[in-house]
Amino acid sequence: MTDPRVVVTTGVRSGLRERETAMGVAAELGCEFVPRLGRSLKAVAGDAADAVLVAESRGLHLVDLAGESSSPLFFHPGMAVNRIRRLELGGDDHMATAMRLGAGMSVLDCTLGMAADALVAAYTVGPQGRVVGLEASAVVALIVRHGLAQYVLPDADMNDAMRRIAVLNCDYREYLAGLGQGEFDVVYFDPMFGRPVEASTGIAGLRRWACHERLDAGAFAMAERVARKRVVLKMRRLAQPPSWRPPDGVVGGATSTVKFLIWETGEQNAD
Ligand SMILES: C[S@@+](CC[C@H](N)C(=O)[O-])C[C@H]1O[C@@H](n2cnc3c(N)ncnc32)[C@H](O)[C@@H]1O
Repeated sequence: MTDPRVVVTTGVRSGLRERETAMGVAAELGCEFVPRLGRSLKAVAGDAADAVLVAESRGLHLVDLAGESSSPLFFHPGMAVNRIRRLELGGDDHMATAMRLGAGMSVLDCTLGMAADALVAAYTVGPQGRVVGLEASAVVALIVRHGLAQYVLPDADMNDAMRRIAVLNCDYREYLAGLGQGEFDVVYFDPMFGRPVEASTGIAGLRRWACHERLDAGAFAMAERVARKRVVLKMRRLAQPPSWRPPDGVVGGATSTVKFLIWETGEQNAD
């Protein structure tokens, strides 16, 4: 995957604060900061970029200049808020059930995306737990890192959960290779689906910038080594499970468009 050519600017009416953010973000991404000066984003980008990252008071927005049909990408906790509320009311969440999440657990989310799943995990494992999210796309990782640090929800515990997620821009293969046996309770994968799930509009802006590689047997073997309790993989309801080893369990899929495959690793990675 190659990251898009990006320049960073501010909104037309942005002030000094957004300008400082934009300059910091440009330095972080190693790309150019271009002052907005009231111009259109196309004029700001010139021929130098495929996309413009705009620092506005409401956050960072990545605007695609090449693909007219794609939606801007910005951080939003999306369905995570409803999912957490449902859990609080004693309801069910397929991902949390598949992971068998409880207070104090550690979760490695290998495919962070917009961090909705990571937020549900971080809330559920609580302050004694740990959630690390890996994201291959530098620009997606940056937008999500800023969003998780700054987005304000009405619920203080949800805000704390957002702030606790550690975001790393890397390929999960490289990161997993450097970890020891049983370093996380759960290792989780939610790769991009070939065809989008229609209801999942939160992912729409992400598709253009995301890494679309499939999980392979080599990465799965590393995940099995790193997961003290289990590896969980989210798939489309009708997708064939991977061939490397039959899952030990499946959650969801009967009435929902996705299912969660579970491989227990407790025995091989027991202390
Ligand atoms: C379907 S999205 C994940 C959505 C996420 N679960 C959520 O709740 O928002 C998949 C994400 O994984 C990232 N990704 C794919 N392959 C990766 C890899 N090898 N290493 C790190 N991130 C990867 C993609 O760039 C994309 O952002």
